[in-house]
Amino acid sequence: MINVLFIGDVNGKPGRSALSALLPKLIRDRKIDFVIANGENSAGGFGITGKTFEDLLSAGVNAVTLGNHIWDKKDIIPVLEAENRLIRPANLPEGNPGRGHSIFTIEKNSKKINIAVINLIGRVFMVPVDCPFKSADREIEKINGNAKIIFVDIHAEATSEKQAMGYYLDGRVTGVFGTHTHVMTADEKILPKGTAYITDAGMTGPFDSVIGVKKEIIIRRFLMAAPEKFELSETDVHINAVLTGVDEADGRAKTIERIDIKYE
Ligand SMILES: [Fe+2]
Ligand SMILES: [Fe+2]
Repeated sequence: MINVLFIGDVNGKPGRSALSALLPKLIRDRKIDFVIANGENSAGGFGITGKTFEDLLSAGVNAVTLGNHIWDKKDIIPVLEAENRLIRPANLPEGNPGRGHSIFTIEKNSKKINIAVINLIGRVFMVPVDCPFKSADREIEKINGNAKIIFVDIHAEATSEKQAMGYYLDGRVTGVFGTHTHVMTADEKILPKGTAYITDAGMTGPFDSVIGVKKEIIIRRFLMAAPEKFELSETDVHINAVLTGVDEADGRAKTIERIDIKYE
């Protein structure tokens, strides 16, 4: 059995600090073999930079996925091109930099195990892009049996689109985990054909907020219908993640557990 931790959208410095303080101990305590984190908000809540990507890796993250905030900090573009551990939505239009999946090799009990990570982005209430369902088929085809264990981050707004993706990929991948809404859902389960699923893995960042941003700003924005500069909250920081136990022999998920740890 191998244990894989999937961390929901890491939000700014508060989220990164929580991970560097608590993730190494969590990895030890729960015997975690591989860590995936969504890093689209890791730079001040908007986008990712080379530095925040490195911060996530130093905390113990092995693979970083992205989402709609991918282009907020343009200096990530050369990193997207060069870095295998950074994965962007596979269904962005063709010609964009980066990769939609990566394959990692870990060693356990002196056996080499391959793990693939795919990133997809939804289309419902979001900028329209290529079909995430057909893109998932294509990425799985490209992986072409080189990894029995495959995790999918579906970064999407609509619950229905994420649930549909879970059932669409059931039995073909190890886990389908939703990100983007920043609020963890309580529907974690193993689908009938052995795929672990949760609609949203939640946020690693400040909970005293509206999805990470200072709540006063968002309330005023709703009241006035006027744009305002977003500022990240800094208080009540949590780590949100799901921990999945995987049978490496067949790549099926056996267990899924929600994790919510308060940092400060
Ligand atoms: Fe996000
Ligand atoms: Fe997002």
